[in-house]
Amino acid sequence: MSATGIASYWPMFEPRVPGFLHIDSPYPYRFRPPPGTRPDDRRTPGQMAADLLEEAILREGADRVAAFIGEPVQGAGGVIVPPDDYWPRIRQICDRHDVLLIADEVITGFGRTGDWFGLGRYGIEPDIVSFAKGITSGYFPLGGIGVSDRIAAALDSAAGPQTWMHAFTYSAHPAGCAVALANLDILEREELLPRAVALGRRLLERLKTLQSHRHVGEVRGQGLMAAVELVAEKGTRLEFPAEEQVGARVHAATQQRGMFTRTRGDIYNLAPCFVTEEAQIDRMVSILGDSIEAVLGK
Ligand SMILES: Cc1ncc(COP(=O)(O)O)c(C=O)c1O
Repeated sequence: MSATGIASYWPMFEPRVPGFLHIDSPYPYRFRPPPGTRPDDRRTPGQMAADLLEEAILREGADRVAAFIGEPVQGAGGVIVPPDDYWPRIRQICDRHDVLLIADEVITGFGRTGDWFGLGRYGIEPDIVSFAKGITSGYFPLGGIGVSDRIAAALDSAAGPQTWMHAFTYSAHPAGCAVALANLDILEREELLPRAVALGRRLLERLKTLQSHRHVGEVRGQGLMAAVELVAEKGTRLEFPAEEQVGARVHAATQQRGMFTRTRGDIYNLAPCFVTEEAQIDRMVSILGDSIEAVLGK
């Protein structure tokens, strides 16, 4: 709750764990060069967004920054797909300042983005990766972290009061781990990652047909996660007033038509399972299109 940048999660957990700072997301649809950016600045939006990390590290002092944590594609935040040059530059910045890179792959891990891990497509590795949902496809609750050899060696060699003391009731739960292994076998045997890629492509293509609607601001996605962002005015990307509850009303309309998902404000998120049939993907899009029209008109 302290690590997340989604402020609505904070109030019930105040006072939060101190020491967490946040930088702006790499959010292409709503990207604006940071204040003070010179007009002749040649950096791409992805580079500028990544450089916010370096500025924060320098502001705080590199020796006071332990790690940077982020989701390869932000999920609950609204399926925010970063520009391709964002993560490689983040890795470089972390290396330059000896800051650990923690990838929160709880949503993106194990195929959701079409790769085994969300950072895989950029050819970079984090120092620590957190994972959960996809490792068992949700059939059993199992989550965990992976750490680099360097971190493992540091933990293993620590002695006395530096010993890593932590405990969970369900550490290495045998049934959970067995389900995970069986699930990973199925993902491989049934070639579900390539299927996620193909279904994701179909989902995105079909969703793009909704883009002609005057309140569909952006359709975006990566692998089998996608989002439709609804706006009051397309040209200016103006958001609807929060009290109009447009996202919630569209979700209620899709629920009436048999489709349940998760929204973030006026962003409608979609992340169907890898065994979804093509016809179901098409039905999802037609339900969403009908629901948008039912709430916002043609
Ligand atoms: C990106 C992300 N990180 C972490 C979590 C929390 O994971 P867990 O419930 O396995 O602790 C979630 C939960 O939905 C999530 O979406």
